Amino acid sequence: MIIAVDGPTASGKGTIARALAAHFGLPVLDTGLLYRAVGYQTQLDHGDPDDAADALAACDFPDSLLDDPALRYESTGGLASRVSVHPGVRAALFQRQVDFANQPGGAVLDGRDIGTVIAPHADAKLFVTATPEERARRRHAEMLGRGVDVTYEAVLADIHARDARDIGRADAPLLRAADAMLLDNTALDREAAVAAAIAFVKGKVRGCG
Ligand code: C5P
Repeated sequence: MIIAVDGPTASGKGTIARALAAHFGLPVLDTGLLYRAVGYQTQLDHGDPDDAADALAACDFPDSLLDDPALRYESTGGLASRVSVHPGVRAALFQRQVDFANQPGGAVLDGRDIGTVIAPHADAKLFVTATPEERARRRHAEMLGRGVDVTYEAVLADIHARDARDIGRADAPLLRAADAMLLDNTALDREAAVAAAIAFVKGKVRGCG
């Protein structure tokens, strides 16, 4: 069984994907981490994330980079969203994601283009979202909890900028697949959102956990 979980930044799609993977006993891939690794490697190489050749060269990042805590920084998310507009970067990361999706037994993948490009044949697709203000509120609280000194306004501005880049790019833009369940969790807590996601997958794929 393949489950595709897409959605904008800070929508909670990673939480939903991990919960689905745990519930159904499937491996999970956070595909944003691959783009973050490319963005961060570009910076380590003193390259320009807006330059297609520099970003493409960084696709050769060592696998050990995926464990680097720096990939989780907000600034790395910004770099990721800049390198991810280059079609060459998307092509370089394509096969790795397709292979993960199609492994025996299935998988859960979360990202921006899983249901549309990487696994259009997925058994269940979810598009997880919330209003930009609610996403900013949650991200801001989480950052303050980690001791990061940042204002709500700055987080909201970053979310708007990331959304605009992800939705506006020509290649594989952030888009809800026609057959994806829309899970708007603006007014839902984590448990309710996870329960709705599990119920949807069970309804889609009869006989699964
Ligand atoms: O999900 P996350 O915030 O870690 O993703 C970082 C950036 O990587 C996104 O803003 C997006 O531009 C890019 N990305 C993408 N396609 C994916 C996953 C992430 O373009 N499948």
